[in-house]
Amino acid sequence: MKHDHKIAVIAGDGIGPEVIEAAIPVLDRAATQHGVALGWERLPYGADHYLKTKETLPEHAFRYLRDDVDAVFLGAIGDPRVPGNEHARDILLGLRFKLDLYINFRPVRLLHPDLTPLRSGKMIDFTIFRENTEGVYTGKGRTEGETYIAEEINTARGVDRIIRAAFQWARTHGKTRVTMSDKANAVPAHRIWQETFRRVAAEFTGIDAEHRYVDALAMELVREPERFQVIVTNNLYGDILSDLGAGLVGGLGLAASANLHPGRAGLFEPVHGSAPPLAGKGIANPMAAVLTGALMFEQLGHPEAARDLEGAVKQTLAAGVRTPDIGGKATTSQVAKALAREL
Ligand code: NAD
Ligand code: IPM
Ligand code: MN
Repeated sequence: MKHDHKIAVIAGDGIGPEVIEAAIPVLDRAATQHGVALGWERLPYGADHYLKTKETLPEHAFRYLRDDVDAVFLGAIGDPRVPGNEHARDILLGLRFKLDLYINFRPVRLLHPDLTPLRSGKMIDFTIFRENTEGVYTGKGRTEGETYIAEEINTARGVDRIIRAAFQWARTHGKTRVTMSDKANAVPAHRIWQETFRRVAAEFTGIDAEHRYVDALAMELVREPERFQVIVTNNLYGDILSDLGAGLVGGLGLAASANLHPGRAGLFEPVHGSAPPLAGKGIANPMAAVLTGALMFEQLGHPEAARDLEGAVKQTLAAGVRTPDIGGKATTSQVAKALAREL
């Protein structure tokens, strides 16, 4: 059978394999309905493989992911048996850095009104553009005696391209406001964010460009999330704000994410991690993985399949077929079957 897209799968650790294997048949069904055939290529990398072989992500696998596939679909990396998380640094962060996937695209959307812990009942729909190749995440730094020094990298090129990506996406998606967040009042290095934001914003007339320090933004996201449309920020703040955003709309069991570099194969992974206490119980929510698959369809040029998947998630939520994290009693596989039925 000829496949339209070759997708590498790194299911990873903990609940990663459970949500990925539940999501794949759902994604296949959405694809088939639109005449698209997906070829899934499962790779073994993760904690088990690392503990057995000492191999995190070998060079040949990296080259394969870079040159021979249309997308990478990843579950989660993180295992208590690897307390230094060195395999995640090579696999997850390694792919983000080495493939130069500088956009971490993390939508926050309320898909059913009862999922938010807030009382307002207003629509929540904003997207975080998290810088994905710099900041404190490069791991640069050193230890001098009892002083642990971490370097935070903010390059003119890196800051410019993520801010630009946020504005461009806002413009093509009918958004009217972009909020940039930093901590320039305490971190002098963040001046580059302020300067770049002003300069790029001037090129996008008609889009309201506003700034919030990240502490104030965290507060405002809880009090008035409905006013935000697009948020652009650095790697660390984007990580934290994306879990906060997830918490506003039902939690990590529903939060999707894409690591992108326009024109290249992307890496698609739920925002959540391996959730070790849930692993093996069959009750992890597969919706985040399915919605991540929808982002992958979007990127592969099948927005109608992406819309169907999101519709199926909404219907399934409305029908009350839910895992325990969002107040239901269904198992991972029951939710996956319900999603496939809705398609
Ligand atoms: P986590 O996202 O694994 O879990 C946080 C909380 O959310 C837990 O209460 C968990 O039960 C719940 N949760 C997460 N996903 C869920 C799902 N699909 N269904 C139901 N509940 C869900 O975060 P953590 O506990 O801080 O991290 C665990 C491990 O995962 C660590 O090793 C961490 O480094 C790693 N991690 C990996 C990724 C990734 O690979 N993309 C992302 C985040 C964390
Ligand atoms: C995420 C995760 C990762 C990150 C960890 C596992 C390194 O929290 O994808 O949000 O901090 O980027
Ligand atoms: Mn995170």
